[in-house]
Amino acid sequence: MSKKSPNILCEPASRPPRMSSASLMAKDRRVDAAARQLEARGVSKSYRKGSVVVPVLQDLDVAVQEGEFLAIVGQSGSGKSTLLHLLGTLDAPDQGEIWFEGRRIDNLPRAQQEELRNRRFGMIFQFYHLLPELTTLENVLSPLMIAEGVGSYLRRRRGHRETALKLLEMVGLSHRLKHKPRELSGGEMQRAAIARSLVANPSLLLADEPTGNLDQSTGQEILALLRTLNERAKLTIVMVTHDPVLADQADRIVRLARGRIET
Ligand SMILES: Nc1ncnc2c1ncn2[C@@H]1O[C@H](COP(=O)(O)OP(=O)(O)OP(=O)(O)O)[C@@H](O)[C@H]1O
Ligand SMILES: [Mg+2]
Repeated sequence: MSKKSPNILCEPASRPPRMSSASLMAKDRRVDAAARQLEARGVSKSYRKGSVVVPVLQDLDVAVQEGEFLAIVGQSGSGKSTLLHLLGTLDAPDQGEIWFEGRRIDNLPRAQQEELRNRRFGMIFQFYHLLPELTTLENVLSPLMIAEGVGSYLRRRRGHRETALKLLEMVGLSHRLKHKPRELSGGEMQRAAIARSLVANPSLLLADEPTGNLDQSTGQEILALLRTLNERAKLTIVMVTHDPVLADQADRIVRLARGRIET
């Protein structure tokens, strides 16, 4: 049986009304835990360099609602990437908890965290992290190859290929299927990375400076693509950026400073 198409390839969904920060924060206090798709609760994280401990996050709380496009801003070194890695289970907090869809995830066994990352989270990074030896199409398919193993992947490959081709069409890369990453422009690489992040039909996209390595107009195009994904599929997006112009296009902006989300 072929794989279900990602929601993003389906018809536009109706969008929840845009909320101001103030009204959302007021709502946050009352909102029950079920409405919070992703949450960091009392999270602290330090790095140790020899005998020096560098505190980065300190008793930080943040909640992301389903279908929300949240921008996290803050100065360089404020801990934005650290927070995104903790939210995505790429790293573990020293203290505190990460919750996703009503379940604590920071303490899950590694295999279950990998499953979550493969199936439920999409991730995109400033430097794309495409596999250099694979073509654009193969890169987009790679999470499915990894998640399913060879046997299962091969049985479903026709459906998978169809999905990948549709996603690549959606991001405007149908003419670059056989190119290797080094033969793509920065914007094209990021669009390939976005298609890859969506191939397993995630419900949440974590984006770390997705436009940080692109010129302004290409960055704006990528942002518009993310916005469309959020609006059409109600894909929840958490985007880290230091660019206020880009952040302003999210539903809500929170600022990370002194190890916490400033209110
Ligand atoms: N593996 C590590 N070992 C030691 N220190 C680290 C490590 N990773 C990050 N840091 C330190 O933690 C702090 C926060 O880093 P982080 O990468 O989260 O910041 P950021 O807000 O994403 O910055 P930027 O906007 O420059 O990407 C920085 O001071 C950094 O030097
Ligand atoms: Mg960073």
